Amino acid sequence: IHQKITFSGIQPTGTPHLGNYLGAIKNWVTLQKNKSETELILYSIVDLHALTIIPRDAKLLQKSKIEMTIILMACGIDPKKCLIFEQSKVSAHSELSWILSCITPIGWLSRMTQWKTKFQEQKNVKLTENIDITRGMDLGLFGLFAYPVLQAADILLYKSTHVPVGDDQIQHLELTRDLADKFNKLYKRNVFPLPQTILVPANRILSLKDPLKKMSKSTPLEYSRINLTDSPENISQKIKRAITDSQEGISYSPDTRPGISNLINIYSSFTGLTIEQVVNEYKNSDNKKFKESVVDVIVQNLQPIQKEVEKLKKEEGYVNCILEDGAKKANEIAKRNFEEICKVIGL
Ligand code: ADP
Ligand code: NA
Repeated sequence: IHQKITFSGIQPTGTPHLGNYLGAIKNWVTLQKNKSETELILYSIVDLHALTIIPRDAKLLQKSKIEMTIILMACGIDPKKCLIFEQSKVSAHSELSWILSCITPIGWLSRMTQWKTKFQEQKNVKLTENIDITRGMDLGLFGLFAYPVLQAADILLYKSTHVPVGDDQIQHLELTRDLADKFNKLYKRNVFPLPQTILVPANRILSLKDPLKKMSKSTPLEYSRINLTDSPENISQKIKRAITDSQEGISYSPDTRPGISNLINIYSSFTGLTIEQVVNEYKNSDNKKFKESVVDVIVQNLQPIQKEVEKLKKEEGYVNCILEDGAKKANEIAKRNFEEICKVIGL
């Protein structure tokens, strides 16, 4: 029996970017390294969540899932130490989601700021910009509204105790705990532990084009994010074009200098230097020089990952086996827990 159960997910909605890496994947690797004998770790490619975002394109979704798995493994996620699996291959995620939705007040969901932001963004999309509309979200979809419930199901299905996420997910994790607690109270049984949020030490990584928003796979503008598979030239172009300000020198002030502060965060996360150390090193530099250093650090850190990606791309059969094996093991745990849940409810 596992004393500690860690669950986290990532959407196969495109190539993962620096935000995903510094805000999630890098930490997933650390957690896996420090894992004890009695700990179980599950990392899920949450394809059901992806249905709220990407176009109805089966081939693209399949491709994104394989790409995501390859990149996770290239970043150091080790299938010998944790389960990597596709969410849709464990049908109890959807089933538990329905059960939880039957105890979720609509008011709890309408308070979710991530949904509100996405909804707002869609309304503001200007078709005159160079936008890849195939990445757009569907305005007002119920699935997009309800997805925190599915996320709660993902976590609670395994009776997870720990959930490592970026700070954009804090509110969803609160909802998950509220739902677990409500379920336990309604059915007078301690079925679900209240899962703890494990926040990454890194600050949220912001869009390079609009540093008031988070860097995201599902933002239409390609130049707003650096993907883990971007070439050095591409990375250099994107950082050069990143929005900063005309103030002289480098200083950290997320409120008044969001663009430059974001670059400092990226630099600090990769190098392990504190914000103060980075600022000290570059306080007399201009934006151009600092940007060059940021490019260097990103390129250096992504190179080994990209090499590994190229290798794994040639072993798709092996990657598929990892996913199948992960799903098989996840299903065993899910089945046991779901039977208990059904019994408690009377299903
Ligand atoms: P996206 O919003 O890019 O589609 P996901 O929803 O798949 O990302 O999130 C996967 C993980 O990456 C989550 O743990 C989330 O907290 C983290 N994450 C996503 N974007 C960022 C960001 N800009 N900065 C830090 N962490 C992020
Ligand atoms: Na997201």
